[in-house]
Amino acid sequence: MFSLLMGCYASQCIAVAADLKIADYVHEAPRKPSDIARYTQCEARAMQRLMRALAGIGVFHEREDGSFELTVTGELLRSDIPGSLQPIARLIGSELQWPTLGNLSHTVRTGEPAFDHVFGMSMWEYLATNADAHALFHSSMSAFSTAEIRAILGNYDFSSAITVVDVAGGQGNLLAAIVDKYPHVEGILFERPEVTREARDQFVANGLGHRCRAIAGDMFSTIPSGADCYIMKSVLHNWGDERAAQLLRTCRDAMVDRATLLIITRVVRPANEPDLSKFQDLNMLINLNGAERTADEFRELLGSADLQLDEIIATPSPLSILVCTPGGSVR
Ligand SMILES: C[S@@+](CC[C@H](N)C(=O)[O-])C[C@H]1O[C@@H](n2cnc3c(N)ncnc32)[C@H](O)[C@@H]1O
Repeated sequence: MFSLLMGCYASQCIAVAADLKIADYVHEAPRKPSDIARYTQCEARAMQRLMRALAGIGVFHEREDGSFELTVTGELLRSDIPGSLQPIARLIGSELQWPTLGNLSHTVRTGEPAFDHVFGMSMWEYLATNADAHALFHSSMSAFSTAEIRAILGNYDFSSAITVVDVAGGQGNLLAAIVDKYPHVEGILFERPEVTREARDQFVANGLGHRCRAIAGDMFSTIPSGADCYIMKSVLHNWGDERAAQLLRTCRDAMVDRATLLIITRVVRPANEPDLSKFQDLNMLINLNGAERTADEFRELLGSADLQLDEIIATPSPLSILVCTPGGSVR
């Protein structure tokens, strides 16, 4: 029990190391704590104690001469590698998420998101007005995407798609990867205006500007219609059942009968099974009043929007691909 309780120390130590980019510095060569402290403009003895604690949980390794080197786990905190978890570590320990976790009890008592209680506004409102938080949040989402895209492309064949709409597709990483792999596919990213601006620049920079468009809008009001493939990756979990059903209905309205909706998401495992999705679920609850869902919960939600769940495709990542089609349609 005590080691479980101290887990918050482990998270915060990792977040501080990520924020200070210690892994990038130590990757170049083993470093003494005094050198790390000088590089990061920190206090030397406190840095030695941080590094000792992190070596105790396998993030760094302390050598006999007192210098520290990276472990395989610690490599994931480097900022310059594909699949880096550095932005995610920073986000978890940041002013944006740490105070809300500290107010989990508010959420458990009231059912309301701790984020709104702490910040006096929703997380989306906060992100729209705070440039640093916006950058940190979206770089974390992209970091997850990079690691997950390979698993998605390796487990779903988009060759029969003509137009793919990525609903709330973030900075467009997944869409760009699909369009890049399937030269006949046209991509539409549908996102909030502050996000589409960045995505457009990215499409152009990757030479995909002619086949990827970014359209700004509110996915609860209208979604571009007529495409044959819609994607919602890590989107529905941001919303409670009522809003999630509304979003699915808006998507259903946009879909022709032969269209497919791919919900790419965690699926919560049965009772008593260890599953990080059960913590992710609380993360969604405290920050957004959202939820991770079981397969049955997805079926019910989809049914309320005239959609049916045809297949669940597991991937090597924590995400599964839920293949959904208009309910009762003949295909
Ligand atoms: C958790 S992120 C997922 C992003 C992306 N699908 C991914 O997997 O990396 C949720 C996204 O929903 C977008 N979003 C939130 N509210 C929206 C709205 N009303 N209309 C369109 N997009 C919205 C956010 O900007 C954010 O990029």
